[in-house]
Amino acid sequence: MRITLNTLQKMAQEGNKIAMLTCYDASFAVLLEEAGVESLLIGDSLGMVLQGHESTLPVTLRDVVYHTACVARGAKRAFIIGDMPFATFQISPQEAFRNAAEIMAVGAHMVKIEGGKPMLDTIEFLTQRGIPVCGHLGLTPQSVHQLGGYRVQGKGDTAAQRILEEAKLLEQAGAGMIVLEAIPSTLARDITAAVQAPTIGIGAGVDCSGQVLVLHDMLDIYPGKKAKFVKNYMRAAGSTQGAVEMYVKEVKAKTFPGPEHSF
Ligand code: KIV
Repeated sequence: MRITLNTLQKMAQEGNKIAMLTCYDASFAVLLEEAGVESLLIGDSLGMVLQGHESTLPVTLRDVVYHTACVARGAKRAFIIGDMPFATFQISPQEAFRNAAEIMAVGAHMVKIEGGKPMLDTIEFLTQRGIPVCGHLGLTPQSVHQLGGYRVQGKGDTAAQRILEEAKLLEQAGAGMIVLEAIPSTLARDITAAVQAPTIGIGAGVDCSGQVLVLHDMLDIYPGKKAKFVKNYMRAAGSTQGAVEMYVKEVKAKTFPGPEHSF
């Protein structure tokens, strides 16, 4: 049976951890589902791990539509989230809706939008018109040049308070899930306690409702520098299937991420 947003929200309420990974093609969609991954994110990280760009900024709507269609053909059970690329949702809620609709039309069940307060109108516009939205706070890679690099966010009381407030506002605007990237574990724990929507952490500690990693990072395929929050599951398990199964098991058992992967 298909996993829905309701399934994931119920899991979060009951304290059952959600295992999410990025996925970009049909073959991996089948493998990840069989290993027990509940949600597949067609992340704009594809710009780096598939296309060889230095950032996610060059990724286009066509790219995400294409890879979402590939994943949707393989995934029979998982909840599919399509990432909205840079400059496809910032200009107006109307334009964001038109672009999000293209991602939904090829099989996504939700779209993800980076950013806090400036995105509230867009999140409200989309969710009131039938498109579920996942927010993304903390380190938002599309703003890498504004942030001055891939740095941990929310350090210090003022910055932490701002992200906590934004998480609450995102939920009020309609966000059904929130990705928290590279923030202190204590902040992610406070956000998770303050909102009903599942929080999905990447470098945000073990207290989020679930975890996500970039597939090519955890399988040690991506040649670039790895963030502290990445665990090399290929080294730990020795096969692709084994690596993904181990990831799912550790997320469920709350043994990943450990303190060594957290801030
Ligand atoms: O693009 C992506 O893969 C993402 C995850 C890192 C959350 O946004």
